Amino acid sequence: MSEALPAPLTSEQMRSGIPAVDRYLDTGYATVPGMSSRFAAAVCCGLLRIQHELEVAGPVVEIGPFEGRFFIALAHALQKGEIALGIDLFDWPNPEVKDRFEANCAKHGVPAERRIVWKADSRTMTPAELLAKLGGKPARFIHIDGEHSRAALTKDLELATAALSPEGIIVLDDMLHPGYPTLMVAVQDYLGRHPEMCVLCIIDRETVVAATKFVLCRTEWFKRYEEKLLEAYKANVWPLGADFEPHWCLVLSLDTRLAKIT
Ligand SMILES: C[S@@+](CC[C@H](N)C(=O)[O-])C[C@H]1O[C@@H](n2cnc3c(N)ncnc32)[C@H](O)[C@@H]1O
Repeated sequence: MSEALPAPLTSEQMRSGIPAVDRYLDTGYATVPGMSSRFAAAVCCGLLRIQHELEVAGPVVEIGPFEGRFFIALAHALQKGEIALGIDLFDWPNPEVKDRFEANCAKHGVPAERRIVWKADSRTMTPAELLAKLGGKPARFIHIDGEHSRAALTKDLELATAALSPEGIIVLDDMLHPGYPTLMVAVQDYLGRHPEMCVLCIIDRETVVAATKFVLCRTEWFKRYEEKLLEAYKANVWPLGADFEPHWCLVLSLDTRLAKIT
């Protein structure tokens, strides 16, 4: 007889394992306007904790922090001496969005010395410019959530890959989103051009706005990260996994059921 699977944790029960992050997720996250799920923030900051356990260090970058919801969570996961860089056009829905971003960071405990705010267009940025902003240190974690076109994602992916440390992680927002079906084509093409990279896991969507994220890493780091993710988020593993033909990866979800068959 097959054993019943444990119930998956709810979004509210998900933890990164970093006290400052988890406090923000519980008390601040939902109050900051944004489009990333609490579930994804907990897993991504859990990955930042895992990186620290594996002695992976370096700056953290977000392309498209908007008002700071996800960025603040990432910044609370920084270790001593690390900084978080936010790159945004800061012109949507109005130019005051930059002030709101700064105010949200200050209100939720991310001091000015832990963050670099860069009003810039990632589509025209070179890896050398990005690395210079990071003081020459390659990033350990880059969240890409800027312009949602195939061309812009392709450009952002190349930029991120060039500024990433070998043990680094790239997270892509709004994957498999019904409104942006061609983003998946950009990811598939990228994986074809970069056989050194693979999808580490898929973080399933919470709502249509708080959509699915893909987590990418170098192939040689896949097993180390996967083992730690499995340990931390066992209850939220969707049993069948994701097939990237031929590569398989974890799917973390708030709904781990399978279709009923007779
Ligand atoms: C969907 S919002 C990001 C939401 C946020 N990451 C979150 O999780 O709450 C997308 C952001 O990307 C920014 N953006 C769009 N195109 C960009 C570009 N070419 N360079 C930099 N930022 C860009 C927009 O200004 C906007 O703030």
